[in-house]
Amino acid sequence: MNILIIGSGGREYSIGLALKRDKNVGKLYFAPGNGATDMLGENVALSDFSDLADFAEAHSVVLTIVGPEAPLVEGIVDYFRERELTIFGPTAAAAQLEGSKIFMKNFLARHNVPTARYIETDSLDAAVAFISTLEAPIVVKADGLCGGKGVIIAQSHDEAKVAAADMLAGSSFGDAGTSIVVEEFLDGYELSVFAICDGKDYVVLPAAQDHKRLLNEDQGPNTGGMGAYAPTPLVTNEIYAKLDERVIRPTLKGMEEEGHPFTGVLFIGVMVVNGEPVILEYNVRFGDPECEELMPLLKSPASELFLKAATGNLADAKIAFYDKYAVGVVMASKDYPYKNSLPAEIVIDKIHHTDLEGESHISYAGVSREADGKLYATGGRVLVCVGLGDSIREARDRAYMLVGQVHFVGKQCRTDIAYQALRDS
Ligand code: AMP
Ligand code: GLY
Repeated sequence: MNILIIGSGGREYSIGLALKRDKNVGKLYFAPGNGATDMLGENVALSDFSDLADFAEAHSVVLTIVGPEAPLVEGIVDYFRERELTIFGPTAAAAQLEGSKIFMKNFLARHNVPTARYIETDSLDAAVAFISTLEAPIVVKADGLCGGKGVIIAQSHDEAKVAAADMLAGSSFGDAGTSIVVEEFLDGYELSVFAICDGKDYVVLPAAQDHKRLLNEDQGPNTGGMGAYAPTPLVTNEIYAKLDERVIRPTLKGMEEEGHPFTGVLFIGVMVVNGEPVILEYNVRFGDPECEELMPLLKSPASELFLKAATGNLADAKIAFYDKYAVGVVMASKDYPYKNSLPAEIVIDKIHHTDLEGESHISYAGVSREADGKLYATGGRVLVCVGLGDSIREARDRAYMLVGQVHFVGKQCRTDIAYQALRDS
């Protein structure tokens, strides 16, 4: 079967890699893809929904998989379904779980899913009154999609009030901030849990842990994510069971009851506070870089998972994962996340260790192929070095051994990915 993947990041590259291993998959297309996805399939420079649907029809595409949230929130799934094309992802209405923090918080409250105490408001007086009832730090969030930057963790009441005032005045995040959520700060450890959903049934993937800050020991500014690993031993069977019962089931049931059955990836941002999972947020797509570690752990054919989810047939799917660990280390360009860097040629040493050849790989993200045929680092997060192993330590060592073989001017990465799991082991 031919498959079209929408997106251009490391996430989409890793989905492509998983599909490439799958004998049921014929041609792979990426729209628009990046400078390296052309090693896995064909890049097509289309973004308009009708052009993409025309392309899918003309090239016998059996399944389209959507990576990023923006086209989902804009209704690509609704449009493809109208054209009777099979597509993996939520409808625009279901994508509100990510597209609007207010929708999400109110949904969680309606269905008794545990989340931080909050108010949503467009009134500064109401925000200030609620802020006074909380202890610092205090979290202030803009509604809408802000590329992950719409969250301020204020260290004092005054800072929280200023953040709320700025967001409501539209000075910090434009229209995305005309309504805000103010909530209590949750103190615990953060997890990324992914459920692949078909509207009714779901498959939970091994839980991952991302590293959002730029620098070691979780210092420096927030980024899209500097590395991740899975499965994390920080999730016990008890926490999985609580997530299942208190979070995933009520969410799928609630979405169905409200007329928006959820298909696609439900990405649950969890904070574990004193052993109890509390929901920070939902996203409606794979996390990046979490996807880059989860895809190599998938033992079942990737096409089966995505196609069965897209067509409401997960109930009879038996999805298996390798009994292994994956660690992914993001290599970013020099000035990430502050500004763009100049393109830099990527040079990869010849790999002589058989161990490394079989148990590690690169997922490419911010790269372009120039006229000289070489790959250049052009984006913020350039690539992810992924190592696999029978333990987190082994997977981590392989990932970092691969990091040592990859060169480009200005490269930067964290050197402590998976530290929380290794510290506790
Ligand atoms: P969000 O955009 O809602 O995912 O928030 C981005 C990041 O801010 C999260 O991944 C957390 O690290 C942090 N964060 C958000 N809400 C809270 C909260 N209530 N308590 C503590 N940290 C939070
Ligand atoms: N890694 C977090 C995200 O994709 O939002």
